[in-house]
Amino acid sequence: MLTLLFYLLISLSNKHLQSLTLTQPKTLSHGFSLDLIHRYSLKSPFYNSSMTLRERYHSLALHSSSRHQHFNYLQAKASNFVTSLIPQNGDYLMKIAVGVPPVDLFVILDTSSDLMWIQCKPCDRCNKQSREMFDPNQSSAYETISCDSPFCPHIPQMQCDSFTNECQYWHTYGSRSSLTSGVMARDLFTLGTINSTFIFGCSLQEDEGFNPNAAGYIGLNGAQFSLISQLGVSNQFSYCLTPTNSNFTSKLRLGSHVIPRSQGAITTPLWARYLPSFYVITLTGVSIGHATLNTDRSIFIDTSSTFTYLDPSIYSGIEDAVRDAVGVEPIVRPPQPELSLCYDKKSGINTGPANMVFHFEGGEISLTSINMFIDLGDVLCLAIVPSEEDGDSMILGNVAQVNFEVEYDLDSRMVTFTPTNCYY
Ligand SMILES: *[C@@H]1O[C@H](CO)[C@@H](O)[C@H](O)[C@H]1NC(C)=O
Ligand SMILES: *[C@@H]1O[C@H](CO)[C@@H](O)[C@H](O)[C@H]1NC(C)=O
Ligand SMILES: *[C@@H]1O[C@H](CO)[C@@H](O)[C@H](O)[C@H]1NC(C)=O
Ligand SMILES: *[C@@H]1O[C@H](CO)[C@@H](O)[C@H](O)[C@H]1NC(C)=O
Repeated sequence: MLTLLFYLLISLSNKHLQSLTLTQPKTLSHGFSLDLIHRYSLKSPFYNSSMTLRERYHSLALHSSSRHQHFNYLQAKASNFVTSLIPQNGDYLMKIAVGVPPVDLFVILDTSSDLMWIQCKPCDRCNKQSREMFDPNQSSAYETISCDSPFCPHIPQMQCDSFTNECQYWHTYGSRSSLTSGVMARDLFTLGTINSTFIFGCSLQEDEGFNPNAAGYIGLNGAQFSLISQLGVSNQFSYCLTPTNSNFTSKLRLGSHVIPRSQGAITTPLWARYLPSFYVITLTGVSIGHATLNTDRSIFIDTSSTFTYLDPSIYSGIEDAVRDAVGVEPIVRPPQPELSLCYDKKSGINTGPANMVFHFEGGEISLTSINMFIDLGDVLCLAIVPSEEDGDSMILGNVAQVNFEVEYDLDSRMVTFTPTNCYY
């Protein structure tokens, strides 16, 4: 019932989205960048030295799996689905500041959702965050969005509080019941060197299942209320992810940049046919060694899923080719049920086999062992896993994207992958 209500609201509000301009005056002539911090890296404010590598990857595997379910759900609902629900977890954090005077917050970046929301005091029914919670009363720039505001009718799952005349939001997460609700507000956000007013959800209530520790989420998909849509810079951004165990932070660049296109850069179109605000491209094949597996499938690019998910029919061909290339026997039972193919490092394998090539419409990228394998200390495991069945959503996960500048141009609807070293 609630789901039905949700779809009704979504489809109603979508009809009007095209006509509403939300963006700020285009005051930023050039882009700026922010650090992205992997939640389990040494740089993370939530780094827990007691966690073993296996525990970390187990937790990342659970996130990946919940993302995968979320994308399956989106894909199934594609025909009447434009704006997003927000999945629970994310692997990359960024530091922003909200309010006047600014209060530092660590939030999760989610390239596959649109709403920006942060926990606001008093938030009695919220998950604990490890730092001070944002207090709207302390910010001189904070104001709630009233029901009469032109934005209010466009907010997904909006409800008007008839007593306070405040515009409230109510978000569920995919097929699951997780929920955040609160009041829509605007305040000054400081992002690196710039500041600008944003509309965001001030969360006053959440059910469990949200990421503990973080102060909120920043949605960066192509929909109306996402960071990039509201920012008022040109509709371009890019990120460059470093390996999880690296001491260098990853980078997010917003606005236009002159990114040197080194040899090997390829550009592929974003799907317009369905889920236009998500980052979906076309995978035409995967090759490794002498094996080429052809397909013609959409694949979500996601920064919050660690693993890459492929159709089982493609995956099994990849697994065979990797086994052939590596040439030593894999571990009979991988240390975690989510993983399919693991090798004991004692058996002599250290870096994985030759490169694997992902063919997209318009070009191909070459994945090195850093993109293919995760290192659990004593074992190496393939970071590519099969979906339950052919036709489920496919995901290009964040391990596969390490050491590529992944650049999105939402006006021309193109994504460019430039192989590079992200340690800068
Ligand atoms: C850190 O990790 C250990 C091992 O998993 C866990 O028992 C502990 O609760 C964690 N501490 C925090 C603050 O999350
Ligand atoms: C926002 O940016 C402007 C221009 O850089 C600066 O003068 C102002 O102090 C900033 N405001 C806050 C609250 O940081
Ligand atoms: C914020 O101010 C309002 C009005 O003065 C008050 O009712 C509310 O309790 C305050 N909230 C917090 C978290 O202090
Ligand atoms: C990262 O820094 C830590 C602490 O300074 C050090 O122990 C570790 O070896 C470094 N890791 C890498 C991959 O350089």
